[in-house]
Amino acid sequence: MSSFIQIKDVYKSYTTNPILNSVNVDIQKGDIYGFIGYSGAGKSTLLRLINLLERPSSGQIFIDNIDITTYKGHLLRNLRSKIGMIFQEFNLLTSATVKDNIALPLKILGKKKEEINKTVEELIALVHLEGKEHCYPSQLSGGQKQRVGIARALVNNPNILLCDEATSALDPANTKSILKLLKNIQAKTNITIILITHEMDVIAEICNKVAVIDNGYIVESGLVSEVFQNPKHSITKEFVVKGYENKTKDDLDLIIDNIAGGKFLKLHFDGVNVKNSILSDVILKFQIKVNILEASTYNAHENTAGYMILHINVEDNQLNDIVNFIKSQNIVVEVINNESI
Ligand SMILES: Nc1ncnc2c1ncn2[C@@H]1O[C@H](COP(=O)(O)OP(=O)(O)O)[C@@H](O)[C@H]1O
Ligand SMILES: [Mg+2]
Repeated sequence: MSSFIQIKDVYKSYTTNPILNSVNVDIQKGDIYGFIGYSGAGKSTLLRLINLLERPSSGQIFIDNIDITTYKGHLLRNLRSKIGMIFQEFNLLTSATVKDNIALPLKILGKKKEEINKTVEELIALVHLEGKEHCYPSQLSGGQKQRVGIARALVNNPNILLCDEATSALDPANTKSILKLLKNIQAKTNITIILITHEMDVIAEICNKVAVIDNGYIVESGLVSEVFQNPKHSITKEFVVKGYENKTKDDLDLIIDNIAGGKFLKLHFDGVNVKNSILSDVILKFQIKVNILEASTYNAHENTAGYMILHINVEDNQLNDIVNFIKSQNIVVEVINNESI
């Protein structure tokens, strides 16, 4: 299948130091394609090549099999109008209302008032900002500001949406709701989303494909399930470990604080061959109820990687038996409590 977007042998430098080196990426229509890397890796530069805010020093970028790197003038303007972009810092006009921020690109294009109003109304509904039309950005939460950013990016009905650290300025709850919104928009419109982030959780939450970028090189890429199940490059492994740790901490803080009593077990699956029946084995063998508080696992073939947090109501002596039973199944398990977090 030919790719919707193909980045081919791209190299970019501003001075003598290369910023991007022999980058090759294939993106299919409808992908939510994530690039993950540390600060300075070259992520924003790569993203800005796709709408030609930057041009490659060498190499080509094809969209629908056409090399866009030659575009100038009206071809370039048309291309940009079909590629939306959102940013970490939202980039809203502080002196304009929600409605006017979203309408601005259409006003610039000289669209009629009725058409503008209709489009803005539809977009406000799409991003769930009904009732906020006349608010100014300073009256909105970070999550709401990003919703305005998303609506504005979609105003020309683009077929590509570029997201530059779009959730990095948001707290975990707002991050989740913005990612959910992006996922819903993708499902509704089949838009192709390309996002860059330094957070593994973001990739795990919404991307189907991922490329790991380090020092201007793509060091690993593929399906999210495969890359994270079996990370090969040391940088990828670091992101996978960090992702689990962050997720565990954020979610547990919220969950465990609200539960009185009982014991908490954290099971680590380290690419092991786990029988799906481990939970039912525990339940049947010990005749207990098991609550799954949190699970983040990736399965590939017969192997499972990730973790699971269980809440059980048992006495200390039975807890030891349960822990030993789980260990006997070659699963790493630890007992955690509110204080240890
Ligand atoms: N316009 C520019 N001129 C010179 N160097 C730049 C320019 N833009 C970015 N860089 C350099 O390119 C590298 C990658 O930057 P960037 O793509 O912003 O990384 P990331 O988004 O992964 O943090 C950095 O070392 C940065 O200093
Ligand atoms: Mg950046």
